[in-house]
Amino acid sequence: MELNNTKRNTIGMPLVGFGTYQLSINQASTCVKEAIMAGYRHIDSAEAYNNEEGTGIGIKEGMEAAGISRQELFVTSKLFPGYKQWGAPEKDYEQTIETLKSQLVELQLDYVDLYLIHAPLSELRLEQWRGLIELKHLGLAKNIGVSNYDQMQIEEIIRAGMVKPDANQIEFHPICANHKLSAYMKEMSIEPIAYSSLAPLSSWRKEEGQGGEVLADIKEECQRIVHEIAVELKVSDAQVLLRWGMQQGYSVLTKSSKSERIRENLDLYSFELSTDNMRRLDQLNQNQAIAWAASGINPMTTAPTLV
Ligand SMILES: NC(=O)c1ccc[n+]([C@@H]2O[C@H](COP(=O)([O-])OP(=O)(O)OC[C@H]3O[C@@H](n4cnc5c(N)ncnc54)[C@H](OP(=O)(O)O)[C@@H]3O)[C@@H](O)[C@H]2O)c1
Repeated sequence: MELNNTKRNTIGMPLVGFGTYQLSINQASTCVKEAIMAGYRHIDSAEAYNNEEGTGIGIKEGMEAAGISRQELFVTSKLFPGYKQWGAPEKDYEQTIETLKSQLVELQLDYVDLYLIHAPLSELRLEQWRGLIELKHLGLAKNIGVSNYDQMQIEEIIRAGMVKPDANQIEFHPICANHKLSAYMKEMSIEPIAYSSLAPLSSWRKEEGQGGEVLADIKEECQRIVHEIAVELKVSDAQVLLRWGMQQGYSVLTKSSKSERIRENLDLYSFELSTDNMRRLDQLNQNQAIAWAASGINPMTTAPTLV
């Protein structure tokens, strides 16, 4: 059994990452530092999380406290592409480049290891992709990728004669297991990254205003089965869901504002799910996205047609 928490995929990304969505600036600095001290070597950030200043402090203090160099840490961030329906202006090529430069100032970094277009919400997404290619040439992003892109939007990039994304970060858990897209990404050697692995749990985004109450009824069966497996394996329900994502070949991301959970969510190598338990969880798939539901859209299905 694999016991090494620093196992990495083909772009050098550790298979377990610490997510920073819904952390305040202060929480981001404390929790990111704590995550690095606990052993996380992969931090997932984004322009849209409005907390990169805190994440930057957490990275700096965490690296110092853990005695690690920048090269040992894998940092991902994302471009918010703009979205007309929300009144957010769409970013062009130059703005894409300038955005990462400003983010790097907030993050107190010289480069990110992976830079993603957060979602295919803009008509300018090919121009934005061209911007990411330039950012890679400039050395400001070691790898470039996308998030919430379905096969169709990845094919748009390839048809336009540009290099394919190195990675695609998507919602992925037993209720939302997009196997068709997973197979396509495997065929194309695009690294899969799972977000919101814990969305099926009743404890997911439970605090006021976090939006965890959405689609609560469709999660009940999954919660029952996950809990049975967790009792059998003497691990937590969260560990079962995260391990399921890893055994599906994904890197997983997980966020917590609580010390104990930060440590628990990293402990994914001391157990494994049997074929039978994997099958029980696989049977729960409804291709039902949950993570963005509170904001009223599914980013995988709302891409505007390109003009
Ligand atoms: N690209 C995208 O569109 C996109 C979308 C969503 C997320 N993401 C990224 O993926 C990361 C992970 O997704 P997520 O934020 O939805 O996180 P998650 O890890 O799937 O779930 C976090 C929620 O579960 C709770 N939780 C954490 N650990 C737990 C445990 N061991 N037991 C019970 N409950 C637990 C947390 O509460 P406490 O904080 O109170 O512990 C929080 O409410 C994000 O932070 C972000 O970096 C990307």
